[in-house]
Amino acid sequence: MKILGIETSCDETAVAVVENGKKVLSFGVCSSARQHVKTGGIIPETAARRQTESIIPVLEKVLSPTNNTSIDAISVTVGPGLIGSLLVGVETAKTLALVWGKPIIPVNHLIAHIYANFIEHRTNNKVHSPEFPLIALVVSGGHTDFVLMENHGDIKYLGGTRDDAAGEAFDKTARLLGLPYPGGPAISTAAEKFEIRKPKSKLNLFPRPMIDSDNLDMSFSGLKTAVLNFVKKQSSNLTIEQLSAEIQEAIVDTLVAKSLKAVEQHKPKSFLLAGGVSANKRLREKITQALKGKTKVFIPEPKYTTDNAAMIASAAYYNYQPVPWQKITANPSLSIEE
Ligand code: KG4
Ligand code: ZN
Repeated sequence: MKILGIETSCDETAVAVVENGKKVLSFGVCSSARQHVKTGGIIPETAARRQTESIIPVLEKVLSPTNNTSIDAISVTVGPGLIGSLLVGVETAKTLALVWGKPIIPVNHLIAHIYANFIEHRTNNKVHSPEFPLIALVVSGGHTDFVLMENHGDIKYLGGTRDDAAGEAFDKTARLLGLPYPGGPAISTAAEKFEIRKPKSKLNLFPRPMIDSDNLDMSFSGLKTAVLNFVKKQSSNLTIEQLSAEIQEAIVDTLVAKSLKAVEQHKPKSFLLAGGVSANKRLREKITQALKGKTKVFIPEPKYTTDNAAMIASAAYYNYQPVPWQKITANPSLSIEE
């Protein structure tokens, strides 16, 4: 079964065609992130306007190598996200469903991030697939959630951030250091420069709140304040690179400690890292190392970590529940358990 995926929840306009939830046949993403550098963050109206400009060109690019008539169904992100951005994808998908006479499947963006791990990836020529029960950590710009999945569509929230998301902590602290939006890749690149020069000289400057609490909850808003106070004092001669490494380490340490706790408490067969922050090299390394021998760890290929449409089509395949197109609406505040 070939499913067309459409994703427009934030600042990426993404389209993909995926076969049987695993094999990506065609893939395209157009990001307006560079436009948001000037404003230091996303202006929803600008993002929505760019979605309307990009959706048809991206659709044309992705559909040209495939045959439209061989597409069996259409899937689209209905939430959570920015309402103006979401509507562009939702209305486009509904129009295609009507014109082509194909079924349409609404998809939850957060759950779709988890399904980036079901897209076929091979190591040593072997195909690996996650097994249930699994634990997923969805760590993105707006969310940092642990969920337990006993099966497809059977999702239970276990814990997560009580305030800012980890991606938001990267974005906000990067801004305080004068680094560009999006902050995650900027901090990661700066930190890497420091780590190459001085691999072992971490000072643990910033707090890791709740790291020892028994639950799977986290808090990242204090990090922003701690960095702000540090930058205001300007009493040290630490470089931006070293401060970036310190920030990254505080976020990564917390995520890794809680992931270890989640695995020890629930003993899942697989652990899936997902969402934009799972592109972070340090997090990928440390989580793989920490969970080695405890469970099977899955992390998407970097291009499927941040917002994309292959994950939408994959989620739709494994949770195939078409809805009449007239009933599909965007829901900006959809939760991970809905
Ligand atoms: O999943 P995503 O693309 O969009 C949302 O659904 O939010 O995640 C975007 C977030 C941003 O906060 C961005 O700074 C972060 O992912 N991010 C990273 C990296 N690449 C993207 N954070 C840390 N390291 C990275 N390499
Ligand atoms: Zn996302």
